[in-house]
Amino acid sequence: MDMAGKVALVTGVTSGVGTATAEAIAQTGAELFMVCRNKSKGEAVLADIQQKTGNAKLQLLVGDLAVQADIRRVAQEFLDTGKPLHLLINNAGVVNMHRKITVDGIEETFAVNHLGYFLLTELLRERIVSSAPARIVSVASNAHEFCKEIHFDDLNYENRKYKTFEVYGHSKLANILWTREIARQLQGTGVTANCVHPGAVRTGLGTQNGLLGKIATKLVGPFFRSPAKGAATSVYLATSDKVEGVSGEYFYDCKQLTAKPWARDDATAKRLWDVSQKLVGL
Ligand SMILES: NC(=O)c1ccc[n+]([C@@H]2O[C@H](COP(=O)([O-])OP(=O)(O)OC[C@H]3O[C@@H](n4cnc5c(N)ncnc54)[C@H](OP(=O)(O)O)[C@@H]3O)[C@@H](O)[C@H]2O)c1
Repeated sequence: MDMAGKVALVTGVTSGVGTATAEAIAQTGAELFMVCRNKSKGEAVLADIQQKTGNAKLQLLVGDLAVQADIRRVAQEFLDTGKPLHLLINNAGVVNMHRKITVDGIEETFAVNHLGYFLLTELLRERIVSSAPARIVSVASNAHEFCKEIHFDDLNYENRKYKTFEVYGHSKLANILWTREIARQLQGTGVTANCVHPGAVRTGLGTQNGLLGKIATKLVGPFFRSPAKGAATSVYLATSDKVEGVSGEYFYDCKQLTAKPWARDDATAKRLWDVSQKLVGL
C-alpha cells in the first residue's frame, strides 16, 4: 500500500517490537506519531529512526498508558493537530511478576495491555473513521492460551492467586476479544481492526521485574526472534494490500490464525466492551 501522505500512530516505541515497528512505518514515508512514556528515551529513538530512514515527519507524544488521564491528554494532543489518522498500532505492553495497581485503581497489566488500547482507540475513533480507509492493528499474543476466561468477577486479581503468565495471558485474551468487537462495530466504515501474535521476541518485556526479570530475559534471548521479525506481522497488517477489508482477525507470521475458542466468544467480547467502557468512564 502506498503510505505517502498517510498518518500513523504507534505506541510503545522505545523498545523491542514497537521500535522496530516504528522504524518500518517511518521507512514507508508515512507521517508518524510515536507514543512513549519516557521523553528522553523517546527522543533518542526518534533521532535514531530519523537518521536511519530519512523521514522528517516523526513526532513524539509523551504519556504513561497506565494512567487514564495521560491517555486522554495524549489523544487530545493528537486530535489538536487536526490531522487525519489512517493507522493506529496499539503495541505498548507490560508483564509484571508482582501485582501492581495503577493510580486509577486497576491491576497494571490489564490497565496498560487492554484498557490502554481500548481507551486510546475510543478517543481517536471518530478521527480514524473520518480518515477511512484506515486500520487499527493491536499486538496481542499466543499467551491468551494461558487464560481461558475473562475474570469479570475479579479483573484486578484481588481474590485469586497472581500468576504472572496467567495475568499477562488474561490481558492478551482481552486484546483478541476487543479486536473482534471493535471490528464488528466498525463494519461498513472502511476501518479494519486486527491483532497479531509477534512470536517470541528478544525485547525488553519483563526486564523491569528486577534482577530476576533481567536474567530470565537474557537466558531465553538467544532462542527468540529479532524485534524486526517480531514487528513484521504488525507492519504487514498495517501496510499490505493483501489484507484490505480483512477485519476482526488474529495473525501470526503474516498469516491468519484461529485464536483459541475462548478468544472467539462474541458474547464475552461484547461484555468485555461494556465493562471496559465503565472502567475508563466512557
Ligand atoms: N516479546 C515477546 O516475546 C512478545 C510476545 C507476544 C506479545 N508481545 C507483545 O508485544 C508488545 C511489545 O512488547 P515488547 O516485547 O516489544 O516489549 P518491550 O521491549 O518491553 O516494549 C514495551 C514497550 O511498551 C512501553 N510501555 C510499557 N508500559 C507502558 C506504559 N505504562 N505507558 C507507556 N508505554 C509503556 C515500553 O516503554 P518503556 O521503554 O518506557 O518501558 C516499551 O516501549 C506488547 O504488547 C507485548 O505484550 C511480546
